[in-house]
Amino acid sequence: HAAEANRTDLMTITRFVLNEQSKYPESRGDFTILLSNIVLGCKFVCTAVNKAGLAKLIGLAGETNVQGEEQKKLDVLSNDVFVKALISSGRTCILVSEEDEQATFVEPSKRGRYAVVFDPLDGSSNIDCGVSIGTIFGIYMVKDSIEPTLDEVLQPGKNMLAAGYCMYGSSCTFVLSTGAGVNGFTLDPSLGEFILTHPDIKIPKKGKIYSVNEGNAKNWDGPTAKYVERCKFPKDGSSPKSLRYIGSMVADVHRTLLYGGIFLYPADKKSPNGKLRVLYEVFPMSFLMEQAGGQAFTGKQRALDLVPNDIHERSPIFLGSYEDVEEVKALYAAED
Ligand code: AHG
Ligand code: MN
Ligand code: MN
Ligand code: MN
Repeated sequence: HAAEANRTDLMTITRFVLNEQSKYPESRGDFTILLSNIVLGCKFVCTAVNKAGLAKLIGLAGETNVQGEEQKKLDVLSNDVFVKALISSGRTCILVSEEDEQATFVEPSKRGRYAVVFDPLDGSSNIDCGVSIGTIFGIYMVKDSIEPTLDEVLQPGKNMLAAGYCMYGSSCTFVLSTGAGVNGFTLDPSLGEFILTHPDIKIPKKGKIYSVNEGNAKNWDGPTAKYVERCKFPKDGSSPKSLRYIGSMVADVHRTLLYGGIFLYPADKKSPNGKLRVLYEVFPMSFLMEQAGGQAFTGKQRALDLVPNDIHERSPIFLGSYEDVEEVKALYAAED
């Protein structure tokens, strides 16, 4: 009967968060309203992604973003959807998006207590070939929502009160943490609701998969090169790890979270700070990894301790199974 009960349990993401949030009565409703607007944005992007090829939504938008990347039509569309949904929620006062050079300060009449940092469409290079892509977000509580400044979002990731992502793949999966563990929800298109399918996700302590763009190997530093070498030619007689690299951070991180292993986007000679952006890629994924019992390291420190100076700052990142990241930390420590 358990399966039967579950079927009628219909634990939607809204009900789940309301239950969780009841532990923090002071945010009664506000956080839930904010999250429901993020969820709305994800449902919209999911639909747009699924019909992109049909609705001529693939290809370039003809602009270049602050990252120096050519924006895809879906980059721009999803950014517009999230900015509008977040502002109309009336619960935000600062927004930082990968696609906008400047932070958005919400007009006073619509201001709320949260700052949201987000990557509206992660893995854009995979849009045109139909490979999984996603949306990543992090949420900070704002201290002064009357006269908010950029300092409210130049905070270490450990100050985030929630983080999550939505992956637009063979199914649409929403993974969220509000600081009390990690839970996964799958969109039921017939209901238009995200239903709890992966309660209390814990990442395996050690994994058999490593995930890195081997094409950058020429430019890696010593510890990274040594670590990857060990994955391929283990010294302790164990079998080599498998390489899985999708090229969308959301998809590579989701697989790492569920199967275990390590995802790395290291520094290299060309990009000493790596490629991934601290506020809306490194922090949210590091937050989730720690909440799931894994960890995240920049090559120098715990990723969530990093204090960003610029909203589009980048950092090297090694994240995943606790023991796998420990090995990377030991190699960097030996280097010091
Ligand atoms: P975005 O599409 O939001 O700009 O992010 C792309 C990122 C991330 O999704 C992925 O892990 C990484 O770029 C892949 O970079 P490489 O193609 O250099 O491996
Ligand atoms: Mn991009
Ligand atoms: Mn991205
Ligand atoms: Mn992006």
